[in-house]
Amino acid sequence: MKALVYRGPGRKAIEDRPMPRIELATDAIVKISKTTICGTDLHILKGDVASCAPGRILGHEGVGAITEAGQSVTSFRAGDRVLISCISSCGKCEYCRRGMYSHCATGGWILGNTIDGTQAQYVRIPHADTSLYKLPPGADEEALVMLSDILPTGFECGVLNGKVQPGCTVAIVGAGPVGLAALLTAQFYAPARIIMIDLDDNRLAIARQLGATETVNSSDGKAAAAVMKMTGGQGADTAIEAVGIPATFELCEEIVAPGGTIANIGVHGAQVPLHLERLWDRNITITTRLVDTVSTPMLLKTAQAGKINPRLLITHRFKLDAILEAYDTFARAADTKALKVIIEA
Ligand SMILES: NC(=O)c1ccc[n+]([C@@H]2O[C@H](COP(=O)([O-])OP(=O)(O)OC[C@H]3O[C@@H](n4cnc5c(N)ncnc54)[C@H](O)[C@@H]3O)[C@@H](O)[C@H]2O)c1
Ligand SMILES: [Zn+2]
Ligand SMILES: [Zn+2]
Repeated sequence: MKALVYRGPGRKAIEDRPMPRIELATDAIVKISKTTICGTDLHILKGDVASCAPGRILGHEGVGAITEAGQSVTSFRAGDRVLISCISSCGKCEYCRRGMYSHCATGGWILGNTIDGTQAQYVRIPHADTSLYKLPPGADEEALVMLSDILPTGFECGVLNGKVQPGCTVAIVGAGPVGLAALLTAQFYAPARIIMIDLDDNRLAIARQLGATETVNSSDGKAAAAVMKMTGGQGADTAIEAVGIPATFELCEEIVAPGGTIANIGVHGAQVPLHLERLWDRNITITTRLVDTVSTPMLLKTAQAGKINPRLLITHRFKLDAILEAYDTFARAADTKALKVIIEA
């Protein structure tokens, strides 16, 4: 089968690889119909994710059909159309029982990281019963690819951890797919203001279409002053970091209001300064989280009911053969105006 393989920092290739096989009775094999590329895949290619070794098939998002289910899989059988969660969970270990699937003792974020992932024609999904979701009949499969990772991530790591509440002021640093997913799902809670910050005017324009009340282009280095001015010197009750570099976390430290929360989403590969000399008396909370995907069933219902439209995040479509072009398009978003790119396997 064809697959996109990580070959070490800065290097990737399309390769012919053997078909995945059932290894444990709880596995299922899924024939991918649609997958996509995540900002995290770009972090892996930058060398930011030490756990991902060269030779790994990348990708942790996708929908497809089960071709084979292991003997212990009871909820799915061959032919079922499924959404793949970016987090694999056994459902039984201590962390899973606490709803912290991201830290499952035999799962967590393993797909496209420590085991082969979804940017391929087929993928092996461990703990299939508790890591796959049946697609509702008539589902918009392409739109639901956004539920593998970015929507639960924006919602759980950004909105829930950030304690977004009615009437509050939210600032989201980073208007990539994950920041925009936080923007869409923050609106479940009717915040008064959502200020979106990015370097890319195109992404900021999309953010306004998707519900941002204000936007700030931070390329002049004066975003903190702009946000403080907009909020009458108070700052944001919730500051969501959705980029993954020191500068954007430090910006969140500058704009968080007293009593507020900095909710980090970004994957960081470098040390970030923590300015306790400014923050110690501001009653703030800092949260970090690897998405647990506990909200996926809720998000599936919300998407099915038309309360959110994940399709709005899709801008480009490619065949698996052209996945290198898809990576290039996604990585050069400022030129290509790309958000999520759909890859058809
Ligand atoms: N915590 C988790 O479980 C989890 C899950 C998925 C993704 N992530 C992470 O979330 C982050 C966002 O993912 P994405 O797919 O949206 O990535 P992306 O690369 O598409 O988007 C990042 C955005 O940040 C903007 N940006 C870059 N530098 C900036 C700066 N100095 N100031 C303001 N904006 C700046 C870019 O213009 C871009 O729009 C990544 O770090 C990704 O690894 C975390
Ligand atoms: Zn991801
Ligand atoms: Zn577990």
